[in-house]
Amino acid sequence: MQLDPDDERILAGEFGETRQQMMELLVGLGTVYGAERFVPIASAQVSGASYKTIGEWGLEWLSSLDARAVVPAVLNPVGMDLERWQEMGIDPAFAKKQEQVVAVYRRLGIRLECTCTPYYLSLTGYGDHLAWSESSAVCYANSAIGARTNREGGPTALAAALVGKTPYYGLHLVENRKPTVVVRVEGAPPSPDAGWYGALGVIAGRQVGSRIPFFSGIRPTRDGLKSLGAAMAATGAVALFHVDRITPEARVFSYDLGGLEAITVGSDEVAAAWSGIPVDAVAIGCPHCSGEELGLIASLLEGKRVTKPLYVFAARRVIREHPREVAVIERSGARVYADTCMVVSPAFERYGAVMTSSGKASVYLPSLCGGAARLGTVEECVAEATS
Ligand code: F3S
Repeated sequence: MQLDPDDERILAGEFGETRQQMMELLVGLGTVYGAERFVPIASAQVSGASYKTIGEWGLEWLSSLDARAVVPAVLNPVGMDLERWQEMGIDPAFAKKQEQVVAVYRRLGIRLECTCTPYYLSLTGYGDHLAWSESSAVCYANSAIGARTNREGGPTALAAALVGKTPYYGLHLVENRKPTVVVRVEGAPPSPDAGWYGALGVIAGRQVGSRIPFFSGIRPTRDGLKSLGAAMAATGAVALFHVDRITPEARVFSYDLGGLEAITVGSDEVAAAWSGIPVDAVAIGCPHCSGEELGLIASLLEGKRVTKPLYVFAARRVIREHPREVAVIERSGARVYADTCMVVSPAFERYGAVMTSSGKASVYLPSLCGGAARLGTVEECVAEATS
């Protein structure tokens, strides 16, 4: 890789041992993937934040680092709401460890927004180069915004945050952003909600794998795009997709689809992802809710009381910006938590089965929380929690 004089000085250890290690990591990554140089990044998003997923080894490694982020960098969700963890029933011993992880990230200069939807917090524009690591955030940034990021691991996103650059390869290059498979959706309902797109993503991701799909036959809102991408990143390894006449780069590539394999997904296959198993709790907000989603949930809960636990997750700033919607939701007995989610918090390990509107969460709840998952639309989730 070609390094500029500043990179060489970092690599030589002039700016401390941590930056030197981080530069070595990034040079190694770039060399493996054939990058010729680095590209400066507009922001980083760092996963590996919940003590549940990183454990003692992760905490020890993070504690050994000594540098500060040189670009805006946001943390992924942690294992609990940092202000309301007791109410969530989190074990104090876990909370203590989680607070230590958070303290280390604060020292490293990572913003403690603790969200997988950093695109609601700061302007991320078309063509921006990023180093983001949470798979749904990566998919949304690439697909819905037209920014450019590879699917980073937690350590490489952190390294990019501390150095301000990432190797220039993969999805940073326009030629690697072309669709490689066509997905035709047949019989989509007129205005499906994000839950339907989550189910579509579960099915499509399995068939698409790590390719770049170009969708036709759907017209998702931004929340639909978020849900579709999150689920495809979970069942496949999708980091970028295009939707005909919807996503910003679809126009660029829609003339060049000849010769690509075409897959058809019918609405009957999507409906088969729904099940009717009994559940103990309901969770919405994977990825974290937008303001519009909080508004939808509030309108569905207005004047009702929940009969089983209903959890809603969103970024703290989004929660603060929607006090009316949050008040309506919480008046029903449901809870709106920040900083965490149903997958990375140990709070969900106590439930045998959870209903969710998230295709992604329906995939990860069984493996990471040990219970069964049932998928439904947001409306069906609220109906289940209030029935
Ligand atoms: Fe976000 Fe947690 Fe889902 S990190 S994408 S809400 S699994």
